[in-house]
Amino acid sequence: MTQSLTLRRPDDWHLHLRDGDMLRAVVPESARHFARAIIMPNLVPPVVTGAQAAAYRDRILAALPDGADFEPLMTLYLTEETDPADVAAAHAAGLVKAVKLYPAGATTNSASGVSDFDKVRPVLEHMAEIGLPLCMHGEVTDPSVDIFDREAVFIDRVLDPIRRATPGLRVVMEHITTSQGVDYAREGGDTLAATITTHHLVINRNHLLVGGIRPHYYCLPVAKREEHRLALRAAATSGDPSYFLGTDSAPHVDALKETGCGCAGCFTATNTMSILAEVFEQDGALDRLEAFTSLNGPAFYGLPVNAGSLTLTRGAPVAYPPKIHAGADTVTVFDPGFPLHWRVDP
Ligand code: NCD
Ligand code: ZN
Repeated sequence: MTQSLTLRRPDDWHLHLRDGDMLRAVVPESARHFARAIIMPNLVPPVVTGAQAAAYRDRILAALPDGADFEPLMTLYLTEETDPADVAAAHAAGLVKAVKLYPAGATTNSASGVSDFDKVRPVLEHMAEIGLPLCMHGEVTDPSVDIFDREAVFIDRVLDPIRRATPGLRVVMEHITTSQGVDYAREGGDTLAATITTHHLVINRNHLLVGGIRPHYYCLPVAKREEHRLALRAAATSGDPSYFLGTDSAPHVDALKETGCGCAGCFTATNTMSILAEVFEQDGALDRLEAFTSLNGPAFYGLPVNAGSLTLTRGAPVAYPPKIHAGADTVTVFDPGFPLHWRVDP
């Protein structure tokens, strides 16, 4: 008997599309399955102003394949110089759906991020008033804090104080990787939510480090212990509206991954829906996949769910290309390490 599963068309609430050749290579991979995505602004230079976000949105739309039905939801990169009036105008125009906070130095292209959180208080207060969500890369950058502890320490030192100081501010804890993140998001009420990536549901730090270092499993926040992966699995498959999909699909060319100091990022846009169906099936939660991929995100962002649907059919293992081409370079597609039986219907 063929098994099939039909969902509302999914959205990706955290996606890196880059620019130029890379943008043209990766945007079809997301547009094939996802109706909308929150687009990360960490280009070089970053997308800081409303005008830059409008220009980037135009480049994304121009890179879409003919007939694609995909809406980029733009974000602004928060700096200590961000002008609250520019943020408000970009939001009022319907252009920008969130503002992204990178602690300076936390991850790829985050050098212009925030060091002194007091400097961004006026912007955050304004965002709380207008209901514009803040997406937070939740890791401290204090060199004395162990990289595996940086998320938990961020919650105590930065996130909780900001939320207490700015009541009403809507916050998305992005790509959570720890049980502390899961617990904090669950208890945060309706102004707080968390995205969870595909890869953090699949790998723990052993996958990254045992038997040789696997650069394509290296991302930030770095994968943690197995107990944390299990907490993320339980959260994602629970149906709880506090959690929704943000793939954090973050392409880097292979030459920059497979090198002495490799870039952080897993590229999962191509096979995310097949992986998620397998994961939810393994956990007996296929009936809750739609909440995670297609319902909880729009509810938090105050957007309608998508009109279209996406159907997955179970059968013989699906083969995905191990790499895609970006200009003269290649990008490795995330390998979950187990067969994928769910194929997205064309
Ligand atoms: C992201 C990237 O490459 O832009 N990398 C990653 O490992 N996730 C940045 C980020 O989201 O931290
Ligand atoms: Zn990211």
